[in-house]
Amino acid sequence: MKDLDNTYKEKIDSKRLPEHIAIIMDGNGRWAKKKGNERIFGHKNGVKAVRNTVEAAAELGIPYLTLYAFSTENWNRPRTEIDALMSLLVSTLDSETKTLMDNNVRLMTIGDAESLPKRVRLNMQRTIEKTSGNTGTNLVLALSYSARWEILDAVKSIARKVEAGELSSRELSCDMISSQLQTKDIPDPELLIRTSGEFRISNFLLWQIAYAELYFTNTLWPDFAKEDFYEAICNYQNRERRFGKISEQVVSKMRS
Ligand code: FPP
Repeated sequence: MKDLDNTYKEKIDSKRLPEHIAIIMDGNGRWAKKKGNERIFGHKNGVKAVRNTVEAAAELGIPYLTLYAFSTENWNRPRTEIDALMSLLVSTLDSETKTLMDNNVRLMTIGDAESLPKRVRLNMQRTIEKTSGNTGTNLVLALSYSARWEILDAVKSIARKVEAGELSSRELSCDMISSQLQTKDIPDPELLIRTSGEFRISNFLLWQIAYAELYFTNTLWPDFAKEDFYEAICNYQNRERRFGKISEQVVSKMRS
């Protein structure tokens, strides 16, 4: 019998992989509700999808994978859900460090680390240090992250430089702004995936996704399998990326 995981995988052109894939993992609550369970049951089952996706990215050799794990706005959820999510993060970091090591994955984070509970920060730091020598996929967890928060922070830092006379407004450029963002050492995502049939960006990487290809799937996050990830990459590879140019310019550049 044909291995299902190989159907889309076989179609992927390994020479044209996106350098950075970002994912809005959505639908955990609805998945649990459909099964008559509490929302946290969905989050717990979302961990399996995280593991599968990280493994798939590492096996393919995707240099950067960013997962939107907790947004600034998620702090407005019921206290019980927030606490359960924070505990899940801690236990997942413990249980999945082996997966990261086995797959040569390096962990990084973006977001307002200061706002996270100490136990999450310490655990995160430990795993970041433990995986720091890994040279495969960089797994970027967006935690207590929102793009407007990040951009505001960058603008404040630039304004301080201008006030201090270290920078003139004439020197401002897109590269300069990018260099002040949390993602300063990370290439912009080429593919952004959102699960659960919602067509929103939800304050995620707003500056960085200027030219990203957007891919939406109805699959709820806990059901997101390697095959879904491969399908998204195949879909991306079948698109023509024009960056504001016309089709003929892009096609002739690809041939030259
Ligand atoms: C969105 O679903 C998901 C989250 C806010 C949390 C994501 C967390 C995980 C996948 C589990 C642990 C993750 C890591 C990285 C260890 P939702 O709750 O908004 O679902 P809904 O839209 O159906 O309510």
